[in-house]
Amino acid sequence: MNHEIVEKNIGLMAVLVVIVISLGGLAEIVPLFFIKQTTEPVEGLKPFAALELEGRDIYIREGCTTCHSQMIRPFRSETERYGHYSVAGESVYEHPFLWGSKRTGPDLARVGGRYSDEWHRAHLYNPRDVVPESNMPKFPWLFTAKLDGKYTAKKMEALRAVGVPYTDEDIAGASKAVKGKTEIDALVAYLQQLGTVIQTKR
Ligand code: HEC
Repeated sequence: MNHEIVEKNIGLMAVLVVIVISLGGLAEIVPLFFIKQTTEPVEGLKPFAALELEGRDIYIREGCTTCHSQMIRPFRSETERYGHYSVAGESVYEHPFLWGSKRTGPDLARVGGRYSDEWHRAHLYNPRDVVPESNMPKFPWLFTAKLDGKYTAKKMEALRAVGVPYTDEDIAGASKAVKGKTEIDALVAYLQQLGTVIQTKR
């Protein structure tokens, strides 16, 4: 009888459906805020150094995220290729995280240390110079654009406000650490630390 009322009243049904889905969603999401595994940094995790932080912003600006994920899923096909699967504790200092899912190019979650700095520079200058069949765009302007460090300290302060443990010293030295460096220096510094907190055999 009551069921008939719901079935014949689409407005009421829509409201009830939204309520049920919301409760289901909360039941899945809320516990994650309290489970240590998802909220605590993995051992040895450090906030990004000033240059790496600027590199990360260049990575976002240049749209690297549109072709590269940073999320190794716990499947054999992935771990054999990329290394240890990604764990939540590696991303706790990332705001926003860059997990993504679009893989025009390979996942970069553990690319740190896989190639030399020189390889990355050559590859970013013109990918075809090192990987002839590559369809990745080139980024030659990163080699001439210099960082002025104007906002580096402010970025760190903002991150500290949301829980990233930057010290006063980190913030005081931020601008000096990046000033005059090129954007490619920053981007390569960022790439070279990706995923290195968890050591994996390759
Ligand atoms: C249009 C898609 C596209 C964009 C945008 C892109 N890439 Fe790529 N990337 C690729 C493809 C495809 C490959 C595989 C071929 C190669 O190695 O060049 C690749 C490979 C790579 C590799 C080598 C990974 C490995 O494990 O061998 C790195 C590092 C990389 N890209 C970094 C970047 C960075 C940094 C940016 C942004 C500045 C970027 N990519 C933007 C498509 C893209």
